[in-house]
Amino acid sequence: MIAVPGYGALAEVYEWLISDAKLTPAAFAEAFEDVIGLLPPHAQVLDCSCGTGQLAVGLAGLGFRVVATDASDAMVRRTGELADELGASLRAVRADWSELSGHLDGASFDMVFCVGNSLHHAQGASARLAALESMSRLLRPEGRLVLTSRNWELVRAGGSRMEVWDELVRRNGRDAVVIYRWEIPRGWEQEHHIEIAVAQIEADGAVRVRSEVLSSWPYRYDDLVSELRRVGLRVESSTFDPEAEGYTVVAIKE
Ligand SMILES: C[S@@+](CC[C@H](N)C(=O)[O-])C[C@H]1O[C@@H](n2cnc3c(N)ncnc32)[C@H](O)[C@@H]1O
Repeated sequence: MIAVPGYGALAEVYEWLISDAKLTPAAFAEAFEDVIGLLPPHAQVLDCSCGTGQLAVGLAGLGFRVVATDASDAMVRRTGELADELGASLRAVRADWSELSGHLDGASFDMVFCVGNSLHHAQGASARLAALESMSRLLRPEGRLVLTSRNWELVRAGGSRMEVWDELVRRNGRDAVVIYRWEIPRGWEQEHHIEIAVAQIEADGAVRVRSEVLSSWPYRYDDLVSELRRVGLRVESSTFDPEAEGYTVVAIKE
């Protein structure tokens, strides 16, 4: 059986998978400067799929009151470690999207982030709607959800395939080869799989591979927009372009 949501093994090598632009907390937060600029000082913000914590720590560095949650224990641990290392003040909690209301007060956040291609891990349309509903419930009126996504229409059009990144990725003085294997079934609603392998070249020349098979339930952009509407979120801005690999949607709580 495939573990959901995964990211146990990959958490240890996650920096080899994220772009240079997202590596430092300040740079990651700066990528959202337009929308962050709308926040009042000391606003309460949530990153509900925080990964290794760069965005959450970056937001804390800007003086916001930050909660960082993720379904993966290993990711939450890494977020706490990064915050400690950089002296950032935030609350890191292991929580699946369905568990958020058990940990956090409703209508208490000015902004919720769900970024870096996380939402496709919700197990199908009804779980995705429930996840969006949990995020919406945490927002104050006029609060915003910031969501980034792959363009799944394009991913699916590429079919099942293997992609070997054409350049070595260097992090912490170590090079790695990154491989993605996409398993794209016929139907949108079927469980998809993404196998990700990070093959690190050790100081003595040995190769150490960390890999994981992740489950994925992609969605069409139009479906996402109508699901946002159903949970009381109106799309305020969107960068969706059918030809572009990814997009950002900002939706406001009505
Ligand atoms: C591709 S990573 C993105 C991490 C981070 N936001 C970034 O941009 O680097 C997806 C994240 O979603 C988390 N995730 C997957 N399923 C989840 C769920 N049901 N509830 C909360 N987080 C989940 C994973 O553990 C992982 O950290």
